Amino acid sequence: MNKTITLIHGDGIGKDIIDATVKIIEATGVKITWDKQEAGFSTYEKYGSPLPDETIKSIERNKIALKGPLTTPVGTGFRSINIALRQHFKLFANLRPIKSFDGIDSLYRDLDFVVVRENTEGLYTGIEFMVNDDTAQSIKLISRDASLKICNFAFELARKEKRKKVTLTHKANIMKLSDGLFLRTGKEVAENYKDIQFEDIIVDAMAMKMVMNPKDFSVIVAPNLYGDILSDLGAGLIGGLGIAPSGNIGDDFAIFEPVHGSAPDIAGKNIANPISAILSGVMMLKYIGEPRAALKIEKSLGDLLKNSESRTIDIGGKLSTTEFTDAIIANI
Ligand code: NAI
Repeated sequence: MNKTITLIHGDGIGKDIIDATVKIIEATGVKITWDKQEAGFSTYEKYGSPLPDETIKSIERNKIALKGPLTTPVGTGFRSINIALRQHFKLFANLRPIKSFDGIDSLYRDLDFVVVRENTEGLYTGIEFMVNDDTAQSIKLISRDASLKICNFAFELARKEKRKKVTLTHKANIMKLSDGLFLRTGKEVAENYKDIQFEDIIVDAMAMKMVMNPKDFSVIVAPNLYGDILSDLGAGLIGGLGIAPSGNIGDDFAIFEPVHGSAPDIAGKNIANPISAILSGVMMLKYIGEPRAALKIEKSLGDLLKNSESRTIDIGGKLSTTEFTDAIIANI
């Protein structure tokens, strides 16, 4: 079946890694029509808007998008487009699998867990104001509705992927109302999934436990900020952001993207590691019902990474982005 998917290259290294991903997906024989759209800082410079209406309409039409990283000005300028997209399309779950690859130098081997991050509220609602010249306030929003959705999603994922345990992380000892509501809702959802073990761990202890005993975890469900931080921590355990993919999933729409940013320091040098984007493409293929194509790419990538010569520079190899891409395709 030919499927149309919105494609956004984004900023910085986005063009290199998204082009690599498209070439590799096409090499599997899957038929996709790419509806190319623009977003990000470069789009803002061109058109005066970082997220043109046409891009929004394209995702509304196609329901699914594959995107590269978007540069967000720090501390000033327009609001994060990533957050705007997540809120507009109600992409309530940010799914970040943490899976080791043989051959990549990392703190741990054989890790396989998933961070399920609430993606629409928490401290990322963007409700901030100056109370006076010297005091700023950010509003943290936790709703029962969003907490129910994300906790249900985490348990359903555990069931689908035959994972035995869900760990909910929070700081309800201090934020008794907001995190307390998240925790209470998680406990309530857990009652409906007696076949899956449930535990809750305070987020600071969680960070330590993930570093010391990451194999204790299978599905981790967290409010927005904790999920953001812990999923990067997870990426650090398996070799860094360069190899961690993500999917933003809602009831009607999904956007797949690498976890890392636009890496302006290496943009245009053809040395970016495309693995995070490629694996986000693999998640997308599974989501659209193309598991065989997804497996082909995972296998080709896994085989290639076993050889230290056939890696990109950031993970100890010598290959450029395009050479690495061609090697994966040759392996497929
Ligand atoms: P970054 O992830 O772009 O870069 C951090 C470091 O990792 C840099 O040294 C970079 O060269 C390296 N790096 C990142 N991806 C790499 C790859 N694929 N291959 C090899 N090396 C890689 O984080 P930074 O510098 O904090 O952010 C840059 C911009 O990206 C910011 O404007 C930020 O807002 C944006 N960003 C966008 C995201 C998205 O669109 N989903 C996510 C994170 C950041």
